[in-house]
Amino acid sequence: GKGEYDHFMLKEINEQPTALAQALEGRIDPDTGRIALSDFEPGTFEDIESVQFVACGTSYHAALYGSLALNQAGVQSTALLANEYSVSAPPIDDDTLVVAVTQSGETADTLNALRHAADEGASTVTVTNVVGSTAAREADEALFIRAGPEIGVAATKTFSSQAVMLTLLGQRIAADQRGDPSADRSSLLAELAAMPDAIEDMLAVSDAEAIADQYANSQSYFFIGRGLGFSVALEGALKFKEITYEHAEGFASGELKHGPLALVTPDTPVFAVFTGEEDEKTLKNAEEAQTRGAPVIAVCPADHRAVEVADEHLEIPETDSDLAGLLANVQLQLVSYYAADLLDRPIDKPRNLAKSVTVE
Ligand code: M6R
Repeated sequence: GKGEYDHFMLKEINEQPTALAQALEGRIDPDTGRIALSDFEPGTFEDIESVQFVACGTSYHAALYGSLALNQAGVQSTALLANEYSVSAPPIDDDTLVVAVTQSGETADTLNALRHAADEGASTVTVTNVVGSTAAREADEALFIRAGPEIGVAATKTFSSQAVMLTLLGQRIAADQRGDPSADRSSLLAELAAMPDAIEDMLAVSDAEAIADQYANSQSYFFIGRGLGFSVALEGALKFKEITYEHAEGFASGELKHGPLALVTPDTPVFAVFTGEEDEKTLKNAEEAQTRGAPVIAVCPADHRAVEVADEHLEIPETDSDLAGLLANVQLQLVSYYAADLLDRPIDKPRNLAKSVTVE
């Protein structure tokens, strides 16, 4: 049941420290501090030339997160919408690894993409929450995120667990490609191990409810970010529209001036996600919105320069730049939750949506 919480969504947001601890359990060797993915021994991916992630919705945003992190680690990779894959997949061969990211493991669009990839000769991996799901059974290998059951239609803890597992998998692939399987980034792995506590601390003091309260009844809600922060902006907007029924959109920070700025008014709060990737530019983009009267809510650590510039601040703990977006996303989940609660929406079961989408 929901226990002390009014909704499963809030319960599941608060379960993230536990979910991530479960995801990480036994997957970073306590003696060596290195990645220990039992099905993927060092060297597993040495022949892989490129990685394609396929997924839908929130899982697509996690896939985008994983793909950008992999690119930054020097491995050629793309994230593709599973429902576009049959018409727009880049060339696939037996040096291609296709990673299906799907909480349920039953999403029809994602299963189709996985089958297409296998037909074309790719190696396949499924990253999923459900042991025994179709995607887990059909892929060559499965990596389980162990988030525990997620009842709310809005995906929350599974996004975070997927982002963590894709970060680990990505580091394994990058180390294998470099031909130095032991070359894991130890500082990143240490910060990963610290994620459950970091989220716990952040949840205890979050200002998300006050911010949701302050900006309720705005006309539209915009979310901007760069790099990994861009995937978080997309996810922040999806969550917001899905459960509040208010208009929300996520943009790459730099795209704001290429069109969306025409929509920016004092009635369109802008959530700016700072993940350490060209933050000065994102800040400039946020200031452009501010000049048009939009309130800017900066999602960043306490000592970040954006705090002075922005109208409001949602604080995230200091961490590795690969993980800051994950923390920012948790704050945005809370903003969406409290905004939807104020509007009295049926948070766990938004209209027209289903937890598992088994039609194309
Ligand atoms: O089960 P999956 O992860 O494959 O589901 C994909 C999407 O339908 C899903 O992520 C959806 O976007 C979320 N429930 C939205 O919160």
